[in-house]
Amino acid sequence: MRPSPRACSMAEFRHATQRLTLRDWREEDWPQFWEGTNTPDVMRWLGGVCDEPKRLAAQDRLESYRADHGHTFWAVERKSDGAILGFCGLKRSNQAGGPMGMMEVGWRLRQDAWGQGYAREAAQASLDLAFESFGAGEVIALTVERNVPSWGLMIRLGMERREDLDFANDDFDPENSIIIVYSIDRVQWAAQRG
Ligand SMILES: CC(C)(COP(=O)(O)OP(=O)(O)OC[C@H]1O[C@@H](n2cnc3c(N)ncnc32)[C@H](O)[C@@H]1OP(=O)(O)O)[C@@H](O)C(=O)NCCC(=O)NCCS
Repeated sequence: MRPSPRACSMAEFRHATQRLTLRDWREEDWPQFWEGTNTPDVMRWLGGVCDEPKRLAAQDRLESYRADHGHTFWAVERKSDGAILGFCGLKRSNQAGGPMGMMEVGWRLRQDAWGQGYAREAAQASLDLAFESFGAGEVIALTVERNVPSWGLMIRLGMERREDLDFANDDFDPENSIIIVYSIDRVQWAAQRG
């Protein structure tokens, strides 16, 4: 087990929704997370299946976001059976070539959890947390044009297309390097939450 001293000193973050818990990562989550999500279909628009160095680097990034900002792309645990479905949550945008340091919502669920509204439930909770608990004025989300399920979710969340923030990065779709951006600001979020 690799030590994560910065994470040890903080109380665990947990946030419950109707069917899910968003929470800090535990060392024992990672094998289950990768087993479920490190597949060609899940990773299709994320640079493909990760080898071990990439997996460890991704884990370190998610732990460091938590340590640096108090939030990360949290583990998504299903309440009914404790299964780790994937991640969803908040980080600060840091993709090469794109807007830096903006609040960003993101998601990745194992395939057998798609099509049940879990991603939307976790993502809506993440937006609520961004505005209610983490002081965001605006939240962005990034994907590629061909990742229709991902930008479909952005639209379902009430986010709007922000072509002015698009940028080029060919890590995700080798045939189209444009990363497309959506956003929602506090006023839009409050109007939508009624
Ligand atoms: C992007 C991703 C998270 C979207 O997941 P999803 O399950 O399609 O999204 P939602 O949670 O909004 O679910 C919507 C679907 O659930 C259905 N659904 C079933 N029960 C539901 C409920 N109780 N509430 C809401 N929707 C429900 C909806 O009808 C919809 O089905 P449809 O797609 O057939 O129209 C998923 O495709 C994924 O993990 N992809 C791989 C990783 C990835 O690319 N991440 C994004 C990188 S930018």
